[in-house]
Amino acid sequence: MGQTSATPAIGGTVALRGALLDCVDDPFYVPEAQAVRYIPDGLLVVQNGQIAALGSYEEVLPTLGDIPIRDCTGKLIIPGFIDTHIHYPQTGIMAAYGEQLLEWLSRYTFPTERKFADADYARSVAELFLDELLKNGTTTALVFAAVFPESVDAFFEAAEARHLRMISGKVMMDRNAPDYLSDTAQSSYDDSKALIEKWHGRGRLLYAVTPRFAGTSSEAQLKLAARLLDEFPDVYLHTHLSENVSEVAWIQGLFPQYQGYLDVYDQTGLVRARSLFAHGVQLTDAEFQRLSEAKAAISFCPTSNLFLGSGLFRLEQAKNPKHPVKVGLGTDVGAGTSFSMLQTTNEAYKVAQLRGQKLSAFKALFLATLGGARALCLEDKLGSFDPGKEADFVVLDPQATPLLALRNQSGIPETLEAMADLLFSLVIMGGDRAVTATYIMGELAYSSESP
Ligand code: GUN
Ligand code: ZN
Repeated sequence: MGQTSATPAIGGTVALRGALLDCVDDPFYVPEAQAVRYIPDGLLVVQNGQIAALGSYEEVLPTLGDIPIRDCTGKLIIPGFIDTHIHYPQTGIMAAYGEQLLEWLSRYTFPTERKFADADYARSVAELFLDELLKNGTTTALVFAAVFPESVDAFFEAAEARHLRMISGKVMMDRNAPDYLSDTAQSSYDDSKALIEKWHGRGRLLYAVTPRFAGTSSEAQLKLAARLLDEFPDVYLHTHLSENVSEVAWIQGLFPQYQGYLDVYDQTGLVRARSLFAHGVQLTDAEFQRLSEAKAAISFCPTSNLFLGSGLFRLEQAKNPKHPVKVGLGTDVGAGTSFSMLQTTNEAYKVAQLRGQKLSAFKALFLATLGGARALCLEDKLGSFDPGKEADFVVLDPQATPLLALRNQSGIPETLEAMADLLFSLVIMGGDRAVTATYIMGELAYSSESP
């Protein structure tokens, strides 16, 4: 136990010169000028894969010694994006036409996930999936695998080879699913336990106990999932919650003895500080309060919530200072329509607009970086450039396309106010094309310039 504290000794030693931007606090609760750190001409120093120092170029240069400098002048360097909810087996079913959640699951999702019984196939999709994450600047994700333990092995093997900090787990589902995808309460417990012992805390990898949702788990299975959390207190709980109106009604019918959807998870012991619930579109005020009290987290998945017609997440209710809930952003591929966390912030902005709210560029940055790290209880390791954190970061080009070059023709600005405007252009127009390079533990893991 306690493996999450160790960071393996891997990674590069390098300094990057460019505009440095990160969140040091939550701009939903403190003024943006306090929550955001912006250094227009900065040096980010990485030693052995960890952030060693940052500051203005002039100030830090004399301290560098023989550490090589990579010139990213004109570019914006930010912490790697953290995707708090995504399904790697659904990579191939993005853009599945015409259904809402429950029909989408049975028509498209379940038949696709069946293929992940084949370890070679799972491995090939895992590699493609990780290529896509890195190309989009996502350096950490909380990832659903499939019901088959082999699908978890395939994912973790691929992530380990790239030294990625990834969290994943075997889907548990023992009812309301096709036989070919069903486990039993006991087999899901045994298989999950063996996977935890094999993978949790190995290098940068972490395990999430992953009942798909209350609709596909018996009460016995949910209780055994909670037993795993008791036995391994630093693993995560990852599931879906209150996504769609018909789903919520169905769950109430399946569990009439409980006071609603969240209560099913609560009474079975699954609502905890290391629990992350995807969606939460239909949550009541009382449920938001309960999540706050339990210090549990929500993944806001705007592209998926819009694609499946699930609804508009009440971000301002989740961030209510009277009962704050930790919130990260999730792409939720394959119901989500993009791997890009910038595209996801774009849709989050529009969801906020439709609810009469404003999501500023810095709030969006927070949700996609430090907010995600906090949702995953990883803020001591990820999410900002604080020295000692793991050096996973992204280099963005504010002039990546002719349109962006026109929009941002004055280049990197001096003031925070002007940076808010530039960042907003990347939130709305950025996507994967704005990502020039992605670094993992200080090593180049993706470059838009490589063939
Ligand atoms: N609810 C249960 N399973 C799923 C899934 O795979 N995707 C989404 N979006 N919601 C779910
Ligand atoms: Zn999902």
